[in-house]
Amino acid sequence: KALLETTHFGHTIFYEEVLDSTQPTAHRLAQEGAKEGTLVICEEQTAGRGRMMREWQSQKGKGIWMSVILRPDVPTHKAPQFTLVAAVAVARGIEDVTGVRPAIKWPNDLLINGLKCTGILTEMQSEPDLVNALIMGIGINVNHEQQDFPEEIQGIATSLKLQAKKEIDRAELTARILFYLEHYSAEYVIEGFENIKKQWESYSCTLGQRIKATTLRDVLIGEAVEITDDGVLKIKLDNGEIKGVYSADISLEP
Ligand code: BTN
Repeated sequence: KALLETTHFGHTIFYEEVLDSTQPTAHRLAQEGAKEGTLVICEEQTAGRGRMMREWQSQKGKGIWMSVILRPDVPTHKAPQFTLVAAVAVARGIEDVTGVRPAIKWPNDLLINGLKCTGILTEMQSEPDLVNALIMGIGINVNHEQQDFPEEIQGIATSLKLQAKKEIDRAELTARILFYLEHYSAEYVIEGFENIKKQWESYSCTLGQRIKATTLRDVLIGEAVEITDDGVLKIKLDNGEIKGVYSADISLEP
């Protein structure tokens, strides 16, 4: 708390040594009326969750496993952009504290040297058309050694320590990320998406690339051409047709 430079983010902290996942705990607290900026954080998750129903490895004491409750006063159609807001906030925090600039793979994976160091899972509680709460789950591989990663993610995952070649202070990084999350989420609500989109583009390693996007319905191959103001990724297919995807798994296509 001494490191926090926020007006309210991270002022209420729910800390446990071990949780199954910070997400359901944050969902429950949000339902019980927890304030914006409430932080749920733990040392170890026994059932960490990723996007697309995947599991998320959350080794004890090695990473930052946290969920932050946001309560933006926006209609639900303005919620998807928060995924990009979070990616920019975490990227800037990592850059400040480690000196290494991560790349953002659409929508919100952070990579360093092509390896994933951070995943973000955004979930929403809504009334019919209004956002009641956003639960931002952020998982960062911070001080892992190479052998800490299980075999199935060797060659895919990395940690900040491995990339920056120094031990990283998790409390300092958490405080920095909360600072940017507070800053950019307020900016998005008050001033709109324009500046944040520019920031996102400056970190992007997806735009201009030939990609394969696997959605729940189909597989699209083409060039990632732009991000719209709604946070949608536009892909130019080989037949010239432009398609937008809201949610997908992206891989670079040679
Ligand atoms: C992804 O890349 O698939 C998203 C991973 C999100 C992981 C974080 S760790 C903290 C929070 N609790 C979870 O169970 N998942 C998110």
